[in-house]
Amino acid sequence: MTTYEVPARVREGSPNPMATLEGYEALYGEVSSDPDAFWVAETTRRIAWAKPPTQGLGGGFDQIADAPLTWFADGQLNATVSCIDRHLATRADKTAILWEADHPGEDTSWSFAELAAQVNRCANALKARGIGKGDRVLIYMGMVPQAAVAMLACARIGAIHSVVFGGFSADSLRSRAVDCKATAVITQDFGMRGGKRIELKRVADQALVGIDEVHTVLVYQRTQDAVEMEDGRDVWWHDLVDGQSDECAPEIVDAEHPLFILYTSGSTGKPKGQVHTHGGYITWTSFTHQHVFDLREDDVYACVADVGWITGHSYIVYGPLANGATTLMFESIPTYPDAGRYWDLVERHKVTIFYTAPTAIRALAACGDEFVTRRDLSSLRVLGTVGEPINPDAWEWYHRVVGEGRCNIVDTWWQTETGGICISPIAPATPTKPGSATLPVPGIEPVLRDAEGVVLDGAAEGLLCIRRPWPGMSRTIWGDHERYVDTYFSMFPGAYFTGDGCRRDADGYHWITGRVDDVINVSGHRMGTAEFESALVHHDAVAEAGVVGFPHPIKGQGVYCYLVLSEGHDMDDRGELERELQGILRNHIGAHARVDLYQVVPGLPKTRSGKVMRRILRKVAEGQPEALGDISTLADPGVVEAIKAGARSLA
Ligand code: WTA
Repeated sequence: MTTYEVPARVREGSPNPMATLEGYEALYGEVSSDPDAFWVAETTRRIAWAKPPTQGLGGGFDQIADAPLTWFADGQLNATVSCIDRHLATRADKTAILWEADHPGEDTSWSFAELAAQVNRCANALKARGIGKGDRVLIYMGMVPQAAVAMLACARIGAIHSVVFGGFSADSLRSRAVDCKATAVITQDFGMRGGKRIELKRVADQALVGIDEVHTVLVYQRTQDAVEMEDGRDVWWHDLVDGQSDECAPEIVDAEHPLFILYTSGSTGKPKGQVHTHGGYITWTSFTHQHVFDLREDDVYACVADVGWITGHSYIVYGPLANGATTLMFESIPTYPDAGRYWDLVERHKVTIFYTAPTAIRALAACGDEFVTRRDLSSLRVLGTVGEPINPDAWEWYHRVVGEGRCNIVDTWWQTETGGICISPIAPATPTKPGSATLPVPGIEPVLRDAEGVVLDGAAEGLLCIRRPWPGMSRTIWGDHERYVDTYFSMFPGAYFTGDGCRRDADGYHWITGRVDDVINVSGHRMGTAEFESALVHHDAVAEAGVVGFPHPIKGQGVYCYLVLSEGHDMDDRGELERELQGILRNHIGAHARVDLYQVVPGLPKTRSGKVMRRILRKVAEGQPEALGDISTLADPGVVEAIKAGARSLA
């Protein structure tokens, strides 16, 4: 296995205390030996506190069932002050947000001064509608800078935002609105993606039918096309926001005041509202963004994720802005108008740090090198990946063709729950191995355990846990702390269980092997198989559904669905049934939820107590029917033969 040294160009002139491996190790040791002292000093230096904290961690993993843990609990701040106000003295005219619209070359840039004015106007508008501290506001928008403004405006007044990815269906939006008892929604008429309009307002209207608690829908106008507006409830952004004052004093809140809720899929059908708080989250995203990417003052930083996912929260909005960086927001898709769009973007904006997902890299690599090589990508210094394991081939292509061997690649492992990057190279310091997320960032103490909970030392493969709390982790699940404890701390009491498998090699490098639970990761979108299953049984023809992931050459994982049909139904018109089922998934979850392969089976493999043996479903879907292991506990072993005989594959 090749190891790549850090290219000289990435090391040169690095202002990073971790610019070398020795520097990294020293800082790692410093944090581990006294985390409280380190983080209190670090956050006081790094973040603009109204009242700096004297306390580090409060509570801990061993007391997590009693109460959420805290960081910096006696401190007070507002995260937006670190993202905006404090830059005005030194960077007022520096570009804060660089927006690249769907249409190539249509771009806009906002300085920190302009961003401050926009956020304050929007914050004042929210206040004018009676929205204030602690209120929940859903944000259902595309990738327009107003989405970042909306997030920051909520945070500014102490309201709690919950961004819902613009691809989610009305049902998904509705269940989130109900779960967090939102009183306002910020959306836009239409989103624009790849030349197509996304009906955001219409879907929001559908979602909100009968939800009287939502008294305000603020609508940003992106296009010239008409949408319906409900009298009293709906108000245009340009009518309400634009005329407000440019000044709005930040609401100073306790460190542990919630900054946002972001819903993630888990092993059950009901998404979990991860709660992140002002003090710890802004400390962690700022710290990791600066060090992992080795941020320099004149960098042009582009993360092409969507603000609807945690990557957009932490590494488009909060982390980069806290660090005074120029952050690019990209409205479009990588293949519009052609597969060279990212590289066109890099060339035109002289992007120095580029952060994307393996699925995009694989898809673009398949389109040929010519789209990349005809662009001048010499501005690039650091290339990042996130969201799923990257296969060595895609990594090599990214390194060789996009990075021309001059850039370091940071394969960043983290989760919605972790708030920010946890295992990753430090760009100027860490030699890389294609496919490995390498080493933990300071403050993260990963441990591998076997299924019985035994801690594995040295080179080993096991279940990835984190031994000690860090400032960026989610504190609870909104309205259901018990579920938080149960999901992350019941498997191995005293440690955070990530849900991922991981191999650690003899150099201590980490290789994430993927989810070990019923979460699948399709094109970097995290989805629960239970969400698919509970949606699919809404169709009359479906008695039972069993959904698992399988390796997919572009998407990382594809979705494989076993269907048990109801009495009197058959699969004679396969095309028709599949279309109807996709429609159900689109309505219940969103357009990004698609099954790649359906297989009709006489029954699902179940134990005598009625539990579906998902291991069998997975092995057959993965094309490894010979590796089923012990099936003697099955109620009806005959089902397995039928499943094996009818197995499908992409080829
Ligand atoms: C997976 C995304 C391998 C992992 C930030 C994790 C990764 C889940 C990597 C979280 C990586 C994320 N290598 N796997 N570099 N990054 N994952 O919450 O399975 O959308 O548990 O957060 O993505 O997905 P989420």
